[in-house]
Amino acid sequence: MDSLFDAVEGGESREERLAELARQVSVCTRCDLALTRTNTVFGTGDPHSPLMLVGEGPGENEDATGLPFVGRAGKLLDDILAAVDLTRQDVYITNVVKCRASVAEGGRMKNRQPKTGEINACNPYLQGQLEAIKPEIILCLGAPAARTLIDKNFKITKDRGKWYDLEGGVKAMATFHPAYILRQSGEDLRNTKRLVWKDVQGIYAEYQSALEERR
Ligand code: URA
Repeated sequence: MDSLFDAVEGGESREERLAELARQVSVCTRCDLALTRTNTVFGTGDPHSPLMLVGEGPGENEDATGLPFVGRAGKLLDDILAAVDLTRQDVYITNVVKCRASVAEGGRMKNRQPKTGEINACNPYLQGQLEAIKPEIILCLGAPAARTLIDKNFKITKDRGKWYDLEGGVKAMATFHPAYILRQSGEDLRNTKRLVWKDVQGIYAEYQSALEERR
């Protein structure tokens, strides 16, 4: 990691460190996504939660509002969390990239996956969030997050639902991205939902034991 965070490595609180990082993100020009964004999307939720959720990047709705997961995929994420009695206030939610990646198609801008260079350019901010929040559990939503945080060769279909030990005793798992679930139908949809529900039960059990440990 480079020295972007010299300014935030004092004795500040998590909130102060995150506020300074968010300020840096808001004026970031480390990649060309800065040229087309409306708002940067830093992250929301409880910076003291043991659980961090990491998605791919803002879409159109997130770019318009500056908040993560506020579109259809966000509504489904709320339902997934609610299935294990969690709300977004119980967790911290962010993305691998903080600006919308889009491409012109049929006269309008469509969301696209962020490129490797864009993910790498944004990675110091994600690492800064991890250093400030120190989550005990990370749930990667989709392959880009899993490839960034768990293993660059991560295969979401084969490797989701398994636990991985990251540096500093952090436990990480990946599951399907809510937007992927929304693209399924029929039997595929039922199977995908069943797997995600199973994954999220495992996440919840780990979240509960992290809270128990703190008591
Ligand atoms: N998809 C993501 O990965 N992140 C968001 O914030 C919204 C949709």
